[in-house]
Amino acid sequence: MKILALESSCDDTGAAIIEDGRRVLANKVASQVQIHTPFGGVLPEAAAREHLLAVNAVVQAALDEAGLSLADMDAFAATIGPGLIGSLLIASSTAKALSLLTAKPFLGINHLYGHVASAYLESDLEPPFLCLLVSGGHTQLIHVKSFSDMQILGETLDDAVGEAYDKTARLLGLPFPGGPVLDKLAAQGDATRFELPIAKTQSPWDFSFSGLKTAVNRQWSGLLQAHPDWNPALDTDNNDSPFAQARADMAASFQRVAVKTLLDKTLACAKAHGLQQVSICGGVAANSALRQAFWGCEAVSATIPAFRFCTDNAAMIGASAFFNPITQDLGQDVFSRVLVRA
Ligand code: KG4
Ligand code: ZN
Repeated sequence: MKILALESSCDDTGAAIIEDGRRVLANKVASQVQIHTPFGGVLPEAAAREHLLAVNAVVQAALDEAGLSLADMDAFAATIGPGLIGSLLIASSTAKALSLLTAKPFLGINHLYGHVASAYLESDLEPPFLCLLVSGGHTQLIHVKSFSDMQILGETLDDAVGEAYDKTARLLGLPFPGGPVLDKLAAQGDATRFELPIAKTQSPWDFSFSGLKTAVNRQWSGLLQAHPDWNPALDTDNNDSPFAQARADMAASFQRVAVKTLLDKTLACAKAHGLQQVSICGGVAANSALRQAFWGCEAVSATIPAFRFCTDNAAMIGASAFFNPITQDLGQDVFSRVLVRA
């Protein structure tokens, strides 16, 4: 079964063709990073317009890459939420139009189920397993009991870990998009220089990252005040300056605590639920330290998708559409948030 899937929930326009939920025949993404960089974050109005400008070309590029035509498709899928409403409308309206045009089914997909399903791409992973879903909007531990039965065991009580990465990066004066930039910088720093807290939560499987972000803020502002001789504007390009070294050390210290929090909770949760298989999904699964930490641990067998399937992409939407379509209703509206805890 070949599914042409579309994704436009935030600032990436994706189109992919997936066969039987696992084989990636094409995977194209048009990034909007350059549009949003001057704003230091995603500008929803601009994102929706850019999706509209890009979507037809991205669909065509996916068909070309696979050497297939619309007539070869068995169904059309798109993310219907959660995400930015204006953005979501572009992929979902396009997939609905293609479905009407070809008289093939339209499959509406939950973006988070899409991230979970990214672990099935080019792998033979099968439930049951524990999924650590770490993105810009979510941090969740999900017990994936079957392809369609998933239970959220814990989630963040405040900031998502990707959000904490992005906010910490901004605080340190790093450019957008903060997460990957901070990840790179951390590799040059001393992760033990700054003492940062690991939050305790009432439920053992929940997370909290706002205290970590606040601790970085307090210590970093204190350091800048104590060093009026530092000139962030000039020292940014000078890797040998005390400012640049302190910034790399802070990035490394932040990353050490963030990764340790995610690793420790996931391992404890997997053990408590008798699960030996673990998957790490979502944009933050692209983080180098997180990947190393899970690959290096013997307690579980970790499936971490390739980089291109971690950050937002349409391939994961095609995988989810095959294993777990949440709606086949052309009248299905898009939604911005999931309001209830499953
Ligand atoms: O899954 P995703 O592409 O979009 C959402 O659904 O949110 O995740 C985006 C998040 C952003 O917060 C971004 O900074 C973070 O993933 N991210 C990273 C890395 N690459 C992307 N965070 C840490 N290290 C990375 N290498
Ligand atoms: Zn995402």
